[in-house]
Amino acid sequence: MHIVHTIAELRERLSPFKRPAFVPTMGNLHDGHIALVKQAKPMGDVTVSSIFVNRLQFAPNEDFDSYPRTLDADAQRLEAAGCNVLFAPREQELYPEPQTYRVHPASDLSDILEGHFRPGFFIGVSTVVLKLFSCVYAGMPSGVAAFGKKDYQQVLVVRRMVQQFALPIDILAGETQRAQDGLALSSRNGYLNSAERLEAAQLSQALQALGDAARASNTPDLPALEAQAMQALARRGWKPDYLTVRRRADLLAPQGPLAGQPLVVLGAAKLGNTRLIDNLEI
Ligand code: PAF
Repeated sequence: MHIVHTIAELRERLSPFKRPAFVPTMGNLHDGHIALVKQAKPMGDVTVSSIFVNRLQFAPNEDFDSYPRTLDADAQRLEAAGCNVLFAPREQELYPEPQTYRVHPASDLSDILEGHFRPGFFIGVSTVVLKLFSCVYAGMPSGVAAFGKKDYQQVLVVRRMVQQFALPIDILAGETQRAQDGLALSSRNGYLNSAERLEAAQLSQALQALGDAARASNTPDLPALEAQAMQALARRGWKPDYLTVRRRADLLAPQGPLAGQPLVVLGAAKLGNTRLIDNLEI
């Protein structure tokens, strides 16, 4: 595997190829990232991953400075998974001047849920993803890019950006990888102490219970069920931002009878100082 730090080196390495399979990450890789690499690899003629902790998507009170940076271990895991090129730019390379041109996704999708609780988050994500796409795919006839479904809303935001800018990139959404107790794998799980780690699986259980309750009736009172689910987590010491049942296609609240509607239950809650997110398609 070649490790490159500049856009010029990356383009040079990719120049013999026609269809990169790309997995953008912020590093501190876990089995979820590795599964994405393995899934994307057969869909392209060269496999690329990036590691870049993107300041633009962190609010000033968030964990940009403490976000774990584990480049050597990550590179070993990527190489073992069959990645051919790792792009690990320094901040100065990707943002040599203040990034004043930014992608503002439509508010109907990006101001709700994660976007509501993390204002500006999807502007930061969309901007860096478009920039990484431009580094990887410039001059390529087509490509594939893989994102994990754990960040369900992010996948939708990126898909819509690709569609609206007519980028020749297929977006692959990989299934969430989970620990044995159901906790969705995430780089932020490393922030949990041992008591919190035991408790953390309650988030996926709460989503499952909310999904089961919603599906138990064709016309449930969703706001009441969602409020109960949040209260139950709060009683265990969590600080929930949202637990909610939404349509998979646009993350809006479902209208009318639920039968036949593809839905997803999404949740975000703080346990101690760690904010966890998860979702389940139901
Ligand atoms: O999901 C992530 O790790 C990040 O949001 C991404 C897509 C790499 C952009 O920084």
